[in-house]
Amino acid sequence: MRKVAVLGYGTVGSGVVAVLEQSEDQIKRKLGEEVQVVKVLDIRDFPGDPIQERIVHDFEEILKDPEIEVVVEVMGGLHPAYEYVSQSLCAGKHVATSNKALVEAYGAELGVLAREHGVSFQFEASVAGGIPILRTLNTAMIQEEIYQVTGILNGTTNYILALMEDTGATFQEALADAQARGYAERDPEADIEGYDAARKIAILASMICGKHIRYQDVPTQGISGITKADIEGAAALGGRLKLLGSCSQENGRFYVSVEPTFVPMDHLLAAVNSVFNAVMLKSSMLGDTMFYGKGAGKLATASAVVADVLAALDGNGVYEMNTWSSEIEEPVHPADRPCRYMVRAEGAQTEHPLFASLVPSEGGFSALTHQCSRKELTALLEQIGRQAKVCSVFRKMEE
Ligand code: NDP
Ligand code: HSE
Repeated sequence: MRKVAVLGYGTVGSGVVAVLEQSEDQIKRKLGEEVQVVKVLDIRDFPGDPIQERIVHDFEEILKDPEIEVVVEVMGGLHPAYEYVSQSLCAGKHVATSNKALVEAYGAELGVLAREHGVSFQFEASVAGGIPILRTLNTAMIQEEIYQVTGILNGTTNYILALMEDTGATFQEALADAQARGYAERDPEADIEGYDAARKIAILASMICGKHIRYQDVPTQGISGITKADIEGAAALGGRLKLLGSCSQENGRFYVSVEPTFVPMDHLLAAVNSVFNAVMLKSSMLGDTMFYGKGAGKLATASAVVADVLAALDGNGVYEMNTWSSEIEEPVHPADRPCRYMVRAEGAQTEHPLFASLVPSEGGFSALTHQCSRKELTALLEQIGRQAKVCSVFRKMEE
């Protein structure tokens, strides 16, 4: 029997215990052995839960147990997660984590530590929850140069936007619903304001770039300012607003952002609803690929964590997740290149050669521009502003 410890018995931690139990036969068949969670670290007790007899409150009990081969970190936050993970690696234990804050901030260092100690440090669930995107980049697509990644990387915001659009729910109602389903971060501001998606695109971008693209350097805008009128304006123009994380490389520069973006209705990403995430890649040999699945939630996320655990325990040797160096790469704002935009304004309509299409919308109009520079956009907005109020501007996704 192979022994595992879990740090944090919350949504994902309880999911890891459940997945290992429910998939027992499947795991035994594939691995040839049983995998059991023998200790669970949490602050609380869980009276009445069968886990109670395995709960410990002191991390040393896990660290000093030589039979525990894998430590699953699903507590979240930077500290003490960083200390527990680095101590586990130094003690020769494999680590699997879903904690994107930890991976984004310390991924480079922890990857080195794992290599030095001949163990694996894996973090599949930290990006797009249950979708096996990182392992795919590291294995099936290792030969590909990735030119562009565009993704719906946050389940909570995608769920909120879809619920508002489909049912007319208010932003607060939709958020409360997402929280009740265990999708949202402990501090939902990270979801709503785009920081969670920024961490995920920073991890993907760092993996592709080989250097550290920090999430705080990623231009980030969340969905808290999106109104019903914006959603209707986008629909009138034949599209949907989605919170997209994107990274593209051109001439050695990395253009990275997280922002509510106009997605044409006939694009695959427009059809990604509810808590689902999707990641689209453009790569050198394969061309376009898309990965779709649940980006949050107990069992979907835990499934990806358990895949990491099994990869670490697999007889083929230590699984090495490709991390990046700690050298900083400064990303460039995507709007530094010509882009197309959706503009919504209230007031009189403006004629302008930059408009590719224009539709009347409540109290004014919504329009899509042709490709334009930041300077041209500013001049356009100034002109609109003479007879109307510019309410919102969204970038149209790059295709
Ligand atoms: P939860 O808040 O549900 O669970 C965290 C658990 O860890 C809680 O039981 C918490 O206890 C416990 N904990 C926190 N700090 C400590 C500590 N110092 N010592 C012992 N126990 C501690 O979080 P989630 O399960 O939702 O998320 C865990 C991680 O996975 C986060 O990094 C999150 O970003 C990531 N993630 C989450 C997904 C999801 O769908 N929920 C999807 C993908 C990634 P207490 O409640 O008492 O504080
Ligand atoms: N809060 C995150 C989301 C959890 O909604 O996508 C998964 O990382």
